[in-house]
Amino acid sequence: MTTLKDRPRRLRRTPALRAMLRETQLSPAQFIHPIFVHERDDEQPIQSMPGVSRHSVAGAVEQARQALALGVPSVILFGIPDHKDPLGTQAYADEGIIQRATRAIKAEVPTLTVIADTCLCEYTDHGHCGPLCEVPGQSGGDAWTVDNDPTLELLARTAVSQARAGADVIAPSTMMDGMVGAIRAGLDEAGFAHIPVMSYAVKYASAYYGPFRDAAGSTPSVGNRATYQMDPAGGHREALREARLDVEQGADTLMVKPALAYLDVLKVLRDEFDLPVVAYNVSGEYALIKAAALAGFMDERRTVMETLTSMRRAGADAIITYHALDAARWLREDA
Ligand code: PBG
Ligand code: ZN
Repeated sequence: MTTLKDRPRRLRRTPALRAMLRETQLSPAQFIHPIFVHERDDEQPIQSMPGVSRHSVAGAVEQARQALALGVPSVILFGIPDHKDPLGTQAYADEGIIQRATRAIKAEVPTLTVIADTCLCEYTDHGHCGPLCEVPGQSGGDAWTVDNDPTLELLARTAVSQARAGADVIAPSTMMDGMVGAIRAGLDEAGFAHIPVMSYAVKYASAYYGPFRDAAGSTPSVGNRATYQMDPAGGHREALREARLDVEQGADTLMVKPALAYLDVLKVLRDEFDLPVVAYNVSGEYALIKAAALAGFMDERRTVMETLTSMRRAGADAIITYHALDAARWLREDA
């Protein structure tokens, strides 16, 4: 007889034991379902994101209904306007696509939480997250950047217009300095002190946004976003600083984006702050799994569940994911 005292396998012997002692739980209640809305009547599939489409306003309402029916309590809306210009005016137009979609969803599915992505890159003709200014002495991609302080005013206007349309949560994603404070002040002044700001606090200049930019037509026509989004090689110190600034300005929740390649950062924010932390499982992360599954290289269902579980294990309270409806269905089947 052997004399091994510690045998961890004892607790893995049956499905019931494994389930009883499982440390990390995944539930549709934690998912946020992203919806792309355009000003057309048809549904346009997004090539680099199999299973995801641009929807009409009516289609977005239908998506919202499906989410709620599957136990997914919230959606995040991205607008794709017909008209783009240097100042992104359709982002803060009261008849803008996000505003119209928000009103329609809140009218038809009132208990669903509508989160509005607050940024200008889908609305500017140059594809940057705010109006541009020249950077003296720089050439190529660094010769143009987003003009920080004028952008803050436009973001506050956008947030107020989204809140007026009925948005339950404002989610600024521009990485402008002071964006949370400007939006908080704008909302408070306009009578929306009760509307939370879900800040994209720690957002990297990532290649993983590629498919999203196809979907939204928001690939910058000049330059890149490295002058405002964070350097992927930045360390935990920079992430903590960005998060702390947002907390000081009144952010209600923090976010790390992308998620998978930055789970260490997520864990650091979880440990350091007492605010909820959201993981954004971005378009490129979705595309990787979809492509591998379609090629027959990986099992989609198991890979998705393992991936979402890893985000929860790292400390995410909620997850924005294009897998939300599929994962909710699978969780229901498993229950
Ligand atoms: C807008 C925005 C982007 C994403 C969310 N909000 C694009 C970007 O910063 O280029 C990316 C989401 C994804 O890739 O799924 N600023
Ligand atoms: Zn943007």
